[in-house]
Amino acid sequence: MIPEKKVTEAIQYRRSVRVFDKDVDIDTEKVKQCVQNAVLAPTSSNLQLWEFYHITDEKVLKQLTVACLDQNAAKTAKQLVVVVARKDLWKQRAKANVSFLKSVYGDKAKEEYSRREKFALNYYQKLIPSIYTEFLGILGLLKYAVFNCIGLFRPVYRQVRLSDLRIVAHKSAGLAAQNFMISMAAIGYDTCPMEGSDTLRVKKILKLPRGAEINMIIGCGVRSENGVYGPQFRVPFETTYFEL
Ligand SMILES: Cc1cc2nc3c(=O)[nH]c(=O)nc-3n(C[C@H](O)[C@H](O)[C@H](O)COP(=O)(O)O)c2cc1C
Repeated sequence: MIPEKKVTEAIQYRRSVRVFDKDVDIDTEKVKQCVQNAVLAPTSSNLQLWEFYHITDEKVLKQLTVACLDQNAAKTAKQLVVVVARKDLWKQRAKANVSFLKSVYGDKAKEEYSRREKFALNYYQKLIPSIYTEFLGILGLLKYAVFNCIGLFRPVYRQVRLSDLRIVAHKSAGLAAQNFMISMAAIGYDTCPMEGSDTLRVKKILKLPRGAEINMIIGCGVRSENGVYGPQFRVPFETTYFEL
């Protein structure tokens, strides 16, 4: 068994690998365990508006490579993990949270819930529907206008437009993707996140519904000798870090 790297070691080891070693296979079960780490990422309102498609089938790998515009990182990948943002699943996920909370609070009458318990249940039964209920982007715009008026007088949540909700779902999906890539790095496996793809084709290949959105496709394998294209570049830390 390969010893796991510590967090900082794994973060420093991770690079976007464009060429994977064709002679080194990766263990599907271990990749799956890294996806299990992915879902432990924090997620907005714990709605978990994400799905992960772990591709090991040669035929699907080939189809997805074409949809990834024939990028080397896809072409040479042993497996792919497609991270999908599922904003459209908010009702199911809110319901799952309610069931979970009720299972924790125990079976009791409505009036027996404590204030904190009532607040948590209302959060998923009232607040989340008020934010996520949408109709062609129109409801979101109306809500946005109302919230901005309220915002003139007090701090208020403003991310209620359809575009905001999409960002919210993609943000959490991105965090899960990073959990996955760091977990892979920790066991000496490599990855390459890709957004360079024909997402419509990817959705068709995976038979995803209209509301699903491709967050990123992650090539997986073990780096070949020339798999990392160059030294890692970051703009000077002082230009991105501000202590107040
Ligand atoms: C959301 C996202 C999309 C990316 N899309 C691609 C891609 O389509 N193809 C590719 O070769 N690299 C892609 N990358 C990798 C970046 O180019 C890479 O992270 C960056 O150059 C820094 O290099 P490093 O990851 O080795 O530190 C993507 C990275 C992210 C986070």
